[in-house]
Amino acid sequence: MSAARSGTAVANGRFARLIDWVDERFPLTSMLKEHATEYYAARNFNAWYVFGVLAMVVLVIQLVTGIFLTMSYKPSAEHAFASVEYIMRDVEWGWLIRYMHSTGASAFFVVVYLHMFRALLYGSYKAPRELLWLIGMVIYMALMAEAFLGYLLPWGQMSYWGAQVIVSLFGAVPGIGEGLVEWIRGDYFISDITLNRFFALHVAAVPLVLIMLVVMHILALHETGSLNPDGIEIKQYKDSRGIPLDGIAFHPYYTAKDLVAIVIFLALFSAVVFFAPEMGGYFLEHANFEPANMLKTPEHIAPVWYFTPFYAILRAVPSKGWGAFLMVAAIALLFFLPWLDRCRVKSIRYRGMTYKVALGAFVVSFLALGYLGLQPATPTAVVAARFFTAIYFAFFLLMPFYTLAERTKPVPERVVYHAHK
Ligand code: HEM
Repeated sequence: MSAARSGTAVANGRFARLIDWVDERFPLTSMLKEHATEYYAARNFNAWYVFGVLAMVVLVIQLVTGIFLTMSYKPSAEHAFASVEYIMRDVEWGWLIRYMHSTGASAFFVVVYLHMFRALLYGSYKAPRELLWLIGMVIYMALMAEAFLGYLLPWGQMSYWGAQVIVSLFGAVPGIGEGLVEWIRGDYFISDITLNRFFALHVAAVPLVLIMLVVMHILALHETGSLNPDGIEIKQYKDSRGIPLDGIAFHPYYTAKDLVAIVIFLALFSAVVFFAPEMGGYFLEHANFEPANMLKTPEHIAPVWYFTPFYAILRAVPSKGWGAFLMVAAIALLFFLPWLDRCRVKSIRYRGMTYKVALGAFVVSFLALGYLGLQPATPTAVVAARFFTAIYFAFFLLMPFYTLAERTKPVPERVVYHAHK
C-alpha cells in the first residue's frame, strides 16, 4: 500500500471511530438514514416537488438576514425609519441584507403558494396526509402573521396605515372587539409601544413557532411518505427488503435534483435583489419610503401583493364586520380541504373534467382578486371583486358535490415514469 493510501485509510478509520463515538451518544447515523439515505420517495417527482425545499431555503435566508438586520435596526417610533435608512446607506453590505430580507418575504409567498397549489393538483392533502396539510396551513397562518408584523418595523407610511387597517379589523369581533384592538396595540393608537411588541413577536416568537412547525411538517411527511404526481401510494408495492419498488433514496437522488432547483432559484432571487428590489412597488411599496405620519392617511392603502386576494374579499363586502368574517372564512376553508374533497382519485392526471374546470376557475379568481386588491376600490372593481369572491367560495362550498359526481379515469397500479435518455 502506498504511503498516501495508507494515510487515507487511517483518516477513514479515525472518522468511522468518531461517528461510532457520536452514534453511541446521539442517533446521528440512524436519523440520516431515516430522513435521507433510506427515505424512499417515488421516482417520478416533477418540478412541482421542489417548492418545499425552496421554502426551507427561503426560511434560512430570512433567519440569517433577519439576525443581521436586528444588529443595526432600532425598534422605536423615533428611530426606526432612520435606522433602516442607516442600514441602507452606512452599514457595510446593509443594503444587500435588507434587500435580501424584503425580497425573501415575497419569495416566501411565491414559493409557498406554488407549494400549496401542487397539493391541489395531486391531492397531497387527502388521507393519510390530512395532518401534514393542517400543519402546513398553520405554517401559512404563522407566515402571514410574520410578514404582517415585519411590515410595521420600517415605520413608513404604508407600515403605519396598513397596520392601522388590519389591527382595526379585530374591532369587528362581537362584544370584545374594541378592547381587543386596544390590547393588541397596547395603546389608543398604533404607537411606539405597538412597534416594540411587533418587533419582539417578529424577531423571536413567530420565527421560533415557524421553525417548530416546519420540523413537525417534515416529521409528518416522513411518517406517511411523500405522494407523487400520479397520486399513487408507493408503499403498497415493496421488494423483499421492504423498499418500495417505485421508490428511490432521497439522498443522493433528490438532494442532487433539489440542488439544481436551488441554483435556479438563487439566480432568479439574485436578479430581483440586484436589479429590481422594489419590483415596481410590489415588493417594497412607494409610500413606505416616507416616514410614518399619523396625521396623514396615504391616498391609497394597499397591503403587499401576497395579502391582496384576501384584502379584495374584505373590501367586496359593504359591512366591515361581514367583510372581516368572509376574509377569515376564505382562509379557514382551506383547512377543511381534506374533508371537502370527496373524490377517491388523488391526482389531477386521473380526475374528472369538473375538478379541472373548478380548479382553473379557482386559480383565475385568486389571481383576479389579488389584482383587484392592489387597485383603488372603484365601483367597477368592487363588483368584479364580488364576482370572483363568489367563485372563490363556490370552489370550496360546492366541492363535496362536484367531487363526488366526478367521472374519473382508471388510476394505474404503479407510477408512470419515463427515464430521461
Ligand atoms: C415554511 C413553509 C414550508 C416548508 C419549509 C415546507 C416544507 C416541505 C417539504 C420540504 C416538503 C417535501 C418536499 C415537497 O413535497 O415539496 C413538503 C411537503 C408538503 N407540504 Fe410543505 N412546507 C411549507 C409550507 C406548507 C404549506 C403552507 C402547506 C399547505 C397548507 C404545505 C403542505 C404540504 C403537503 C401537503 C406536502 C406533501 C406533498 C406530497 O407528498 O405530495 N406545506 N413541505
